[in-house]
Amino acid sequence: MMSRCTIHSLAGLMITGLIASASAASTADWKPRSIYQTMTDRFARTDGSTTAPCNTTEGLYCGGTWRGTIDKLDYIQGMGFDAVMISPIIENIHGRVEYGEAYHGYWPLNLNNLNSHFGTHQDLVDLSAALHSRGMYFMMDTVINNMAYITNGSNPATHIDYSALTPFNNADYYHPYCNITDWNDMKDAQECQTGDDVVPLPDLFTEHEDVQQLLIKWAKNAIKTYSIDGLRIDAAKHVNPGFLKNFAEGLDNIFMTGEVLEGAVSIMSDYQSNYIASLPNYPIYFQILQAFTNGSTVVLAKAVEEMRMQLPDVNAMASFSENHDKARIASYTQDMAASKNVLVFTMLFDGIPMIYQGQEQHLAGNSVPKNREAIWLTKYDTDAELYKLIAKLNRIRSHAALLGEDYFEDSTHTIYQGESELAFTKGVQGRQVVMVLSSQPSTSSAYTIDLTVSYNAGTRVTDVLACKNYTVDNLGTLRVPMAKGEPRVFFPTNFLDGSGLCGHSSGNISLAQLKTHSGFTSAGVQLMSTTGLATFLLAVATSFITLL
Ligand SMILES: *[C@@H]1O[C@H](CO)[C@@H](O)[C@H](O)[C@H]1NC(C)=O
Ligand SMILES: *[C@@H]1O[C@H](CO)[C@@H](O)[C@H](O)[C@H]1NC(C)=O
Ligand SMILES: *[C@@H]1O[C@H](CO)[C@@H](O)[C@H](O)[C@H]1NC(C)=O
Ligand SMILES: *[C@@H]1O[C@H](CO)[C@@H](O)[C@H](O)[C@H]1NC(C)=O
Ligand SMILES: *[C@@H]1O[C@H](CO)[C@@H](O)[C@H](O)[C@H]1NC(C)=O
Ligand SMILES: *[C@@H]1O[C@H](CO)[C@@H](O)[C@H](O)[C@H]1NC(C)=O
Repeated sequence: MMSRCTIHSLAGLMITGLIASASAASTADWKPRSIYQTMTDRFARTDGSTTAPCNTTEGLYCGGTWRGTIDKLDYIQGMGFDAVMISPIIENIHGRVEYGEAYHGYWPLNLNNLNSHFGTHQDLVDLSAALHSRGMYFMMDTVINNMAYITNGSNPATHIDYSALTPFNNADYYHPYCNITDWNDMKDAQECQTGDDVVPLPDLFTEHEDVQQLLIKWAKNAIKTYSIDGLRIDAAKHVNPGFLKNFAEGLDNIFMTGEVLEGAVSIMSDYQSNYIASLPNYPIYFQILQAFTNGSTVVLAKAVEEMRMQLPDVNAMASFSENHDKARIASYTQDMAASKNVLVFTMLFDGIPMIYQGQEQHLAGNSVPKNREAIWLTKYDTDAELYKLIAKLNRIRSHAALLGEDYFEDSTHTIYQGESELAFTKGVQGRQVVMVLSSQPSTSSAYTIDLTVSYNAGTRVTDVLACKNYTVDNLGTLRVPMAKGEPRVFFPTNFLDGSGLCGHSSGNISLAQLKTHSGFTSAGVQLMSTTGLATFLLAVATSFITLL
């Protein structure tokens, strides 16, 4: 068996051309990655069944396992993902309440045991090894804010038997019981409990040294035992932020993305500046919804500008448009055009895409628990339209990054804003990705928009979604035919070899090789300095915003 160090070095070379270190993966290691989020109980079963019933409303265990996940890695890798995040692994409270069981993994009982519904120690070791042998990273969703206990309606203040919880087995490890009354008051949110009177979630006293050390010791051991490359921190908003920082430091600064469910860019900025390298990008998520399920594109363009100007590192954020806590996109509108635009933006905007299982199958669960559909019931359809779209988006993103690591240092700029269109550019001039999005329905008719800010005059570009070629005219205008709410994604045609898109070869090709092979005109390679371009685009973008 290969050592973890060897596997990682290989993976690093294959995927990013970087030499990965033997220690846990860092933020830089994660930036080029793209994550598929599974909920183990609902992703795949050991028996491979595609018919086993799963009534999401009942909220019971449906039989998904780590072994089942191993058997479905082709399905995940077929979309181009090179990292998987699984739901929490530890033993949860047993028993059933009016809204179900702990199938999701967010009700911790004993940190020292695994959740036996999902499999054994060996199964989890094998899952980790299977991922690494494919050059994929392994991320674990992690609960450090609270434990759980069933009081089933009795007052949590007096009915929790703390001795049943491991290792935090007495009340001293917890904040004194209180209900959160104001979720926007950080102190209240951090010191009171997030549960209810049926399943209270005793809130760990994470300001305390003993609690911090026990959690760090536990996580260190899990990371080592299962060769984990990164963590999602559940309910990070409800943990005192000082501990988030200590937690990362205690774990050799392994990459972690912390869930702070807030819409304000300033809050993200505060966390990223002071406490944690990455957060799921909730401010952008809320504006994605506004833009593509509610026709309000203005706010998304604005949020993009705010992000770039206020955040220390937008490219370290985790980009998502669905997750296990939020209504799925198709629950707002069944229109495929909306789902496509949402996915294009989610995956090509700055940050590490994190796509929740089932988004590729256009599932429509409208809230918890209906958004936790069993994926096996879709029969893992690899012909699904969004499955194929995601594969293309992962390809163009990886290709742009392969041609220059600077792709993840550059942040997205707004270059066009129409009544129902938005266009963004990301990457160095000459090999940037330009996406043109629409909030129109798939029933809408054809028209044309002129992008006056895109590539240099004369550049030949390909829309990699439709595989159509275009040439930017002498004045530098790219005329884009729009129809049926379809998104467009452009890349210079001469730089597409190696991408595997639109008939171009796939493989390991460098920018230098592309430049020598493809005798294109000098217009295509004139590189504006990044700073020059940024200033220019900023001026353009600012003028858009002032107009609104
Ligand atoms: C890709 O190409 C580069 C430069 O030609 C080389 O250093 C690297 O090892 C190659 N990677 C793989 C996985 O072949
Ligand atoms: C799922 O369970 C709920 C609650 O028990 C029930 O009302 C509903 O009919 C069930 N749905 C199906 C399809 O069996
Ligand atoms: C909680 O109470 C319900 C009835 O209200 C009962 O059906 C269920 O078994 C109880 N659960 C536990 C774990 O005690
Ligand atoms: C705490 O809040 C929950 C949810 O808002 C509510 O159902 C419950 O009655 C409250 N419990 C107490 C003891 O105030
Ligand atoms: C959609 O937009 C309208 C008006 O622009 C607003 O009133 C409404 O709250 C928005 N809907 C959602 C779900 O945000
Ligand atoms: C687009 O251009 C490339 C490179 O010149 C060419 O191979 C391809 O056939 C063209 N595609 C279409 C649809 O014209």
